Amino acid sequence: MCGIVGYVGPRFAAPILLDGLKRLEYRGYDSAGIAVLNQGRIEIEKCEGKLENLLAALDGRTVPGFLGLGHTRWATHGEPSQTNAHPHPDCTGRLVVVHNGIIENYASLRQELLERGHSFTSETDTEVVAHLIEEAYEGDLAEATRKALRQVRGAYAIGVFSVDEPELLVGARLFSPLVVGLGQGENYLASDIPALLPHTRRALIVEDGEVVALDRQGVRVWTLEGKEVHREPFHISWDLEAAEKGGYPHFVLKEIHEEPEAIKNALRGRLDGERLSLSEVEGLDLSQINRGCIVACGTSFYAGLVGKRLIEEWACLPMEVAIASEFRYSCPVIDPRTLVILISQSGETADTLAALRLAKERGALTLALANVMGSSITRGADRVLYLQAGPEIGVVATKTYIAELVVITLLALELARRRGLLTKGQIGEVIREVKALPSKMERVLEGEEEIARLARRYADRSSFFFIGRGVDYPTALEGALKLKEISYIHAEGYPAGELKHGPIAMLDPEVPVVALATKGAHYSKIISSIQEVRARKAQVLALATEGDEDIEADEVIYVPDTLEPLKPILSIVPWQLFAYYVARERGCDIDKPRNLAKSVTVE
Ligand code: BG6
Repeated sequence: MCGIVGYVGPRFAAPILLDGLKRLEYRGYDSAGIAVLNQGRIEIEKCEGKLENLLAALDGRTVPGFLGLGHTRWATHGEPSQTNAHPHPDCTGRLVVVHNGIIENYASLRQELLERGHSFTSETDTEVVAHLIEEAYEGDLAEATRKALRQVRGAYAIGVFSVDEPELLVGARLFSPLVVGLGQGENYLASDIPALLPHTRRALIVEDGEVVALDRQGVRVWTLEGKEVHREPFHISWDLEAAEKGGYPHFVLKEIHEEPEAIKNALRGRLDGERLSLSEVEGLDLSQINRGCIVACGTSFYAGLVGKRLIEEWACLPMEVAIASEFRYSCPVIDPRTLVILISQSGETADTLAALRLAKERGALTLALANVMGSSITRGADRVLYLQAGPEIGVVATKTYIAELVVITLLALELARRRGLLTKGQIGEVIREVKALPSKMERVLEGEEEIARLARRYADRSSFFFIGRGVDYPTALEGALKLKEISYIHAEGYPAGELKHGPIAMLDPEVPVVALATKGAHYSKIISSIQEVRARKAQVLALATEGDEDIEADEVIYVPDTLEPLKPILSIVPWQLFAYYVARERGCDIDKPRNLAKSVTVE
């Protein structure tokens, strides 16, 4: 989730661009840059790291010029570095591009462009767009941009300008946000509304598949095929804080609502139709691997528990799961025939990093699942599978958990494919269902108000149990953790079958039990557990499959049906929302819960 800002007008562009980048700071970045048209030449200033590094490099100098683009990068392809920072020029330096998104076919496009004599200066997917526009340019930048983007697959929001049209800024959007700000004799381009607020509250949304051209007088909009579109501007009513949260009251709620998109982003560039194409593990020799060990902390550990089940079920590879802080002290049996999978959205968790070091000392093959490109764990592991979820600002993991589940599902399928244990048809069946999950998740999110009402009814309780069987057990653990993390209520996830061996003594009408009772292999058993619980007068909040009229509980939340191994991806969402609304009812600091850190970089 990068940040784009563009300006065309009578004022110097540079200060406006830098201020806009500051206002997109919440989008996170690992490099920042600006390009300004300065007397017929494009001047580019860009730095690795936070925006202050760019400001320091500029050292108060204002690059003169009235047309420009700024960018903060959230790396997806190509390490965070000055070379990979945007804006990116074409071969001639007569045009520059900034981009937010993922270009799925960039490798083939890059190869073709290299064969046609283009020279690249970065490792980014973005740079191919600059060269495609360069090739298509015949005096009309908007048309060249349309022609170039018709060759691109993936997600993009781009900004581009050229020396040859010194009063024109062009933008385009497909699956990544882009808005136009309308001023008096000046106009703006931005990834998000906060960058516009100091200048204008009149804006215009660019829809997917559209290209816009801004000059000082106004804006024109076309489809990618070149058909002009008329678009009514709208008035921005949000204040800055609301704008940064996309209108949501908290980043956590915004990021829960981003989860359908997080599934799509985790899949981006990894499927060819219904065929898996995990380039990150291509050419990796797994033939000697005879067991595995997943190591992680917190929410990532629970994603590991799901991963264990999928890998053992589909790939028949014995897979341990270890809490990173215990791993090193448990005399782990790790050797060159072990695949050690480290799951860490931040890629900086000290315990997980220490586990990586131990695994490497033992000669194990190490594979990291992480969200932050260039983070410590990604630099140490043999291979990395990025979550591609974009920055997660809320301290507690929500959309990154969903992304971890999707990525570990793809990895499990790949391991099963390599070991000849799943046919293409069987893999295709799972992938078809994974691709259906975003719309099923949207249906779960439509139940938000009902879940909020449920949360308010139970917000005064002081203890909860979450119970589940099979793949629902990790969901029970994660649901309990979310409630603890953001509402500070004690909650315990438990294997449903284990309740009767002790914890059931704690049940009474004041201790609600969340029971994950969707249709599946363990349905009849979980119904028995629910009956045990209700016999002790404890209230049951059941999660059931849409259409299940037989479920007997005090409260029922429904989710759409899906394949058993994929249930954790949908089943956690109601309990993320439940924890959120309980915490809201209790007035907790949801985005920054007490005592918690986004990443614990100490042991
Ligand atoms: C904790 C976070 O500090 O670390 C949790 O508050 C997270 O949300 C856990 O699950 C592990 O973090 P990571 O970055 O290694 O997945």
